[in-house]
Amino acid sequence: MSQTTAPLLEIEALYAGIDRRDDPVTILRDVAFDIRPGEMVGVVGESGSGKSMTALAVMGLLPAAVSVTSGSVRFDGDDLVAVSQRAMREVRGRRIGMIFQDPMTTLDPVVKVGRQIEEAYRIHHRGASRAAARARAAEVLELVGVPDVSRRMQQYPHQWSGGMRQRAVIAMALVNDPDLLIADEPTTALDATIQAQVLEVLARARSELGVAIMLITHDLGVIAQYADRVIVMYAGQVMESATTAELFDDSRHPYSQALIRSRPALAEPGGRLPAIPGQPPSLDRLPAGCPFAPRCTSTFKSQRCVEEPTAVAASADGRLSACHYRDLQEMS
Ligand SMILES: Nc1ncnc2c1ncn2[C@@H]1O[C@H](COP(=O)(O)OP(=O)(O)OP(=O)(O)O)[C@@H](O)[C@H]1O
Ligand SMILES: [Mg+2]
Repeated sequence: MSQTTAPLLEIEALYAGIDRRDDPVTILRDVAFDIRPGEMVGVVGESGSGKSMTALAVMGLLPAAVSVTSGSVRFDGDDLVAVSQRAMREVRGRRIGMIFQDPMTTLDPVVKVGRQIEEAYRIHHRGASRAAARARAAEVLELVGVPDVSRRMQQYPHQWSGGMRQRAVIAMALVNDPDLLIADEPTTALDATIQAQVLEVLARARSELGVAIMLITHDLGVIAQYADRVIVMYAGQVMESATTAELFDDSRHPYSQALIRSRPALAEPGGRLPAIPGQPPSLDRLPAGCPFAPRCTSTFKSQRCVEEPTAVAASADGRLSACHYRDLQEMS
């Protein structure tokens, strides 16, 4: 994908938090990255790093206690942080599709699968007939590789296997032909063989429909195989932003390096990130400096890391990292 294509999604200086008067908590801190049309961008980081909150902020679906406090989320020219609820409803589901982290809650157990996908279409195509909606639902179910579509559409979710249900969830997210699909851990609940099939479905949707994908995952193997670029998050901040090749060959942040070092063998499919020694900090007790400093084993680590807050900036050779010593970091 050309670096000169205008971004489809442009997140800038995004902060989100819980506004408790006595005890405010910042959940996203200065998050910034973009996604170009048709690009597959991976978002990776340990549990609690803010991956889902970033996705929900884009969708305008943050939990009630959490709100965006500053920054912008430009999507095709509009700032989604500032648009009306009504305009947001038009974007959500039509221009941006989302696969939520807990996919089994997406399908209604008492409504036939075909009907659910038809309804997702008709919400955004008010004038469409039942027949047109049915035809569109069948078309996307075929695209995601569901066999025997007309019979399957008449079944309830419990009659579908986990992998097939996840295909239905993807079909629902694609039914309105969105420009961007946000997939939050779309395969975590599935076993390894099925995971690979579902990821192939996403890859095919991307190549056949040209949809851009934000792929949130714990699994660096998935990133390595499918993503064009990677955003590495930690404690609500972006630590590094790189192409997939740059990240794996020559990562520039000690946190990314630790993730890659602690990655299970490639032969071990579907491995979640194994522990890096120590724990991510609690967001209400963040260290003053770099949030990763307490666990950082870089030889460059200094008092500055403990004291001075970090932000993503370009190194001399143009790589984006939040490490104070970005110009000295190179994977040995
Ligand atoms: N409903 C909520 N209300 C308030 N704070 C929340 C809520 N859900 C999560 N958080 C906080 O937001 C922070 C970021 O959480 P988030 O769910 O984005 O992490 P994540 O990177 O998606 O983790 P995981 O890999 O476990 O899905 C966490 O520290 C968590 O404490
Ligand atoms: Mg999450």
